[in-house]
Amino acid sequence: MTAAKDFRILGIETSCDETAIAILECKGDEKYAEFTVLGNALLSQIDIHKEYGGVFPALAKREHAKNLVPILEAVLEEAELLREDTQIITEETRNKLSEILAREPGLSEAFFEFISECEPPEIDVIAVTAGPGLEPALWVGINFAHALAFVWNKPLIAVNHMEGHLLSALAQNENGVLTITKTNLPVLGLLISGGHTELVVMNEWLKYELVGETRDDAVGEAFDKVARMLNLPYPGGPEISRLAETTRNVSSETLFKLPRPMIDSGTCDFSFAGLKTAVLNLLKTKEGLTDEEKRHIAHEFENAVADVLWKKTSLAIEETGAQTLVIGGGVSANTHIRRVFTEKIKSEHSDIALHIPSAALTTDNAIMIAMAGYFRAQRKEFVTAISANGNLPLA
Ligand code: KG4
Ligand code: ZN
Repeated sequence: MTAAKDFRILGIETSCDETAIAILECKGDEKYAEFTVLGNALLSQIDIHKEYGGVFPALAKREHAKNLVPILEAVLEEAELLREDTQIITEETRNKLSEILAREPGLSEAFFEFISECEPPEIDVIAVTAGPGLEPALWVGINFAHALAFVWNKPLIAVNHMEGHLLSALAQNENGVLTITKTNLPVLGLLISGGHTELVVMNEWLKYELVGETRDDAVGEAFDKVARMLNLPYPGGPEISRLAETTRNVSSETLFKLPRPMIDSGTCDFSFAGLKTAVLNLLKTKEGLTDEEKRHIAHEFENAVADVLWKKTSLAIEETGAQTLVIGGGVSANTHIRRVFTEKIKSEHSDIALHIPSAALTTDNAIMIAMAGYFRAQRKEFVTAISANGNLPLA
């Protein structure tokens, strides 16, 4: 079999509060693919959303619109693909672009200026996150991708953000080149982020079936809400982790005991709302918290989350006969969860290969979107129109 020719993908991610663009040079196929990052940039809006204690969709949309063109320019420059040259934009093209960008007033002026000053770059495909996420935020990236695909005459690929998280966990960094090898099937994926907590299985490569999911809050949401109760800034996950590690280093004992909801339900579904409420009820019994008590709540909360995640994942491994376990999504950055999974796999399922993304790839980024886009482009899943779908399912 001959390997596919090298090709370049431009990936765009705007599903939540990170505006990210990456250009990857890709080669290989589904059995083994190599990705060289030619350019990559990410602008986090965390400081802007902090004062609202969470992501404010209208603000996210405005920030994406403001930042996409400058980020694209920077990424093309880094990839040495920016060729400045005056372009003639016909009346017809201009009208069509105005139509595509009609709902992005914060973007269109900068867009017109940019495309009239540079040649179409040497990229083969444009991949953009179609969902899940915040729809107003997703639409900005999608309309931007549509406009670029039209004016530069490039094919478009719609990427599921969660597939990006899952595949990026499989990526290995070999001397600066990211590689993805088709691993032993079935692959079980535990996807844990601000909006998702689900277990999916790949019995066939890139085909997903749902094994379990949260019945209420996502695990990242629970981290963020509990952090808020403890007066910690948004996003709460890293803050809780930092606090918990400080007492964990002293003792494994905690001053409080929190429930492990649904841990013995016998299903692979999760529930985190009860855990969050248990923290709230605990706080109601106290008048103000000492720093020590805060640390212990963070520690016990993380223990409860990790216990439930592991128990359900272990059950799912047995139910699916998984050979490979992959953890993806923003919460997979959590030190304690990474440690628990690494130890438990060794002691309880030593025949299973565990893949956790590198720190840089855990939270939202465009490299993962471009990598997933490559596999979808190989399958020729090109589209002419993409709609944002806030609840886009993977399985
Ligand atoms: O995947 P992601 O960046 O965005 C979504 O697609 O939702 O995940 C964001 C979530 C937030 O809830 C954040 O608090 C959580 O990931 N998170 C963490 C950590 N870093 C980020 N949760 C626990 N521990 C962390 N170290
Ligand atoms: Zn994400």
